[in-house]
Amino acid sequence: MTQFDDAEDDATPVTAQRPVSDEARSEWSSVAHEDMNLRAYRAAIVAFVVAVGGGLLAAIAYWTSETETLLGVGLALALGGIGFGLVSWSKYLDLDEHVVQQREPLRTTPQQDADFEEQVEVGRQTVGRRKLLVGLLGGSFVSLAIGFVGPVGSLGPRPRGERDSTGWAPGRRLVTLDGSPVDLSSGIFDQLATVFPDGMIGRDDSQVVLLRLRPELLSERTIDDGALDGWVAYSKICTHAGCSVGLFGVDDREPDVVRQLVCPCHQSVFDPTDGARPVGGPATRSLPQLSLGVDDEGFLVSNHDFDRPVGPITWDEG
Ligand code: FES
Repeated sequence: MTQFDDAEDDATPVTAQRPVSDEARSEWSSVAHEDMNLRAYRAAIVAFVVAVGGGLLAAIAYWTSETETLLGVGLALALGGIGFGLVSWSKYLDLDEHVVQQREPLRTTPQQDADFEEQVEVGRQTVGRRKLLVGLLGGSFVSLAIGFVGPVGSLGPRPRGERDSTGWAPGRRLVTLDGSPVDLSSGIFDQLATVFPDGMIGRDDSQVVLLRLRPELLSERTIDDGALDGWVAYSKICTHAGCSVGLFGVDDREPDVVRQLVCPCHQSVFDPTDGARPVGGPATRSLPQLSLGVDDEGFLVSNHDFDRPVGPITWDEG
């Protein structure tokens, strides 16, 4: 043996791998694939169970008023669980697998027959598992819907129906916060008071700002709409976003003396001498005016309810 031959022998790797047969490669691939499929299946089940738990947690959080954190966590778990479960399910079904199969002779070997039977069996098991997954997916959607019942229910009724009618009615006295009726002959000019319908002190939709202004300052339509001997009454709910119009100011600098009702929230300004029409700020609608009368004892009363909804513009009017 030559020196050259020795070197050639030494160069032969001791750990040289044997070529892998196609059958063995196919078998390993099949085992790995089955393993991955099972992991995706289990992941989908866990995700849907988490989604069901999340929806129930959200519902419990709402009914126990634990809405600061638990409600959000529950809904996040429900939505996240459903999303992750669907992705895992698609992995389990091999929806992302791309396979190219070469055309082969239409004769099968015993090995191919065995493979086919095995695939049929796997398919049968898959259909059986699908029932569980479909059930869990349906359960997670139901649970999610339950979790949303509370928050959606809290949106409440549409506002128009409530504001179409207030506590004002023909002959109902105007009373101050301490329950005192307002005498037609009382009061000094340029002062504001908050009044309510008699027997309904504190009712939100019926609060009214009552002013006594010099009668000669009032516009014709303000008088026509129910001003009485200088008394004017307007809804106190701002037509912009519903704050209380609680400020009244008189700017007596020459040449014109200006009287204004002001909403402090976003500085909407209304002219009380002219039907409380908006003259500044974001409000675009006049404050509804309450038509005034006087009863047998000389106290101010309402002639009827407001002739339009109080407060901000409603969906139906938009
Ligand atoms: S709510 Fe009155 S100005 Fe905005």
